[in-house]
Amino acid sequence: MLAKVLSAALTGIDGYFVNVETDVSNGFPGFDIVGLPDNAVKESKERVRTALKNSEYELPAKRITINLAPANTRKEGPAFDLPIAIGLLACMKAVKDPDNMLIIGELSLDGSVRPVDGVLPMLHYAWHHGITRCIVPFENAEEAALVKGMEVYAVSHLTQAVSVINGENIIEPFVMDTDNIFLNKSDSDVLDFADVKGQEDVKWALEIAAAGMHNILMIGPPGSGKTMMAKRIPTILPDLSFEESIEITKIYSVAGLLRSKNALITKRPFRSPHHTISNAAMVGGGKVPRPGEVSLAHYGILFLDELPEFSRSVLEELRQPLEDNEVTISRINGTMTYPADLMLVASMNPCPCGYHGYSDKCTCRESEIAKYMGKISGPLLDRIDIHIEAAAVNFEKMGSTVPAESSAEIKKRVIKAHKIQLERYSGEGIYFNSQLSSSQINKYCRLGADETKLLKLAFDRLGMSARAYHKILKLSRTIADLAGSAEIKTEHIKEALQLRDLDRRMLF
Ligand SMILES: Nc1ncnc2c1ncn2[C@@H]1O[C@H](COP(=O)(O)OP(=O)(O)OP(=O)(O)O)[C@@H](O)[C@H]1O
Ligand SMILES: [Mg+2]
Repeated sequence: MLAKVLSAALTGIDGYFVNVETDVSNGFPGFDIVGLPDNAVKESKERVRTALKNSEYELPAKRITINLAPANTRKEGPAFDLPIAIGLLACMKAVKDPDNMLIIGELSLDGSVRPVDGVLPMLHYAWHHGITRCIVPFENAEEAALVKGMEVYAVSHLTQAVSVINGENIIEPFVMDTDNIFLNKSDSDVLDFADVKGQEDVKWALEIAAAGMHNILMIGPPGSGKTMMAKRIPTILPDLSFEESIEITKIYSVAGLLRSKNALITKRPFRSPHHTISNAAMVGGGKVPRPGEVSLAHYGILFLDELPEFSRSVLEELRQPLEDNEVTISRINGTMTYPADLMLVASMNPCPCGYHGYSDKCTCRESEIAKYMGKISGPLLDRIDIHIEAAAVNFEKMGSTVPAESSAEIKKRVIKAHKIQLERYSGEGIYFNSQLSSSQINKYCRLGADETKLLKLAFDRLGMSARAYHKILKLSRTIADLAGSAEIKTEHIKEALQLRDLDRRMLF
């Protein structure tokens, strides 16, 4: 007797179908799982056997073979427990054929269904390939319901899954009000740019960075407010669209970080890993592959405080994702790609003691400063669009009682500039100026004669790289958008050049 149950697995953050084929035949009793299972999948047979027994189904003393097709991809994790159990029950005629229904779930020994990672991307894939009904673990119900139109049966026990398939209708499909999910989010931001005194130049640079999602590096002495300002950037970023939200949520689903949070990630991520972070934690990977910080910061911010404290190899690993907006990890059984379209925000002191160039307190030797700066390679700096100095705030500004501009005011301008970008790039599949490819730059960042002349002058004088040249154009585009100007003018280019001034003055 043969049964087929449809399930799914993950590659990167995308799902694909796995057909769980179950065969129960006469012969020497045994239980085999084939189709490149990993250890968690192999152990499935013990969980399934016991879960069935404790749900009052006795497995026949026959030869059981499970095949997970396609057989050429490695199957990981425990999500096949439930489809395997259903396949066995179908062979035993204890359940009807679960035709055209996607089934995912881990089983406990008592037959209860435990949550699994990656439900959203799996269902997303299934929906786009014509599957409209699914059985998922109860804890995954909310993320499953994000796939609009999918009939989601959220079960907490194997017997419930059996009743659903047999059409006994003991549970209703799970529904969630996805239309209002953005409205219901609580705005619990307590941080505000109004708290930051002075630092007008840095705030302006951060506004530009936020408007175009440009990478930014702040350099300055201790206590000038770099960390303070970085933490406030999320308060001025444009809100997420539903599509962006879904894409971020898929990553969090795969990383297993969704259940403790809301079903849908409605705010741009802000990740600030400690500088002792490992390479795998930063870019992703590991035995059971997980997205790293660069992917968890997708469409949001990766904040690296005290940049030179990070290990050189971690920083070098950032080069590829910063360039390609995705990260490719090589593993024994193939490569895997996770999205990593992030805004890098970094802060650093100008030297180990922190005061070089700002006060005669500096006690560092030239060689120490060179070593400190040398930790950040030229190629990494080249990928950072804006380098801005955050000098110490003077006494008058600190004591001033005039309130600084609030995050809400700044955000209004950012949103306006973002809207212009969304309109300009509708149909291009990008949302921000920083995402422009070189061919798109030629199309959208055309310059007049004066502007070309100015940029050529700067290019020759500064010995700019081709990448820096493109970055200047993208930055100028954002500055022009903030000014509401359809064309990039010389003043916008001048400002963009100033925002990359530091690499010439301080670091090379
Ligand atoms: N511009 C400012 N306006 C108001 N308060 C400030 C400002 N700058 C610094 N502070 C105060 O100083 C504290 C320390 O600032 P912050 O941690 O941002 O400094 P930093 O530049 O990151 O220093 P370090 O280089 O040592 O990390 C803040 O928590 C805040 O209370
Ligand atoms: Mg700091």
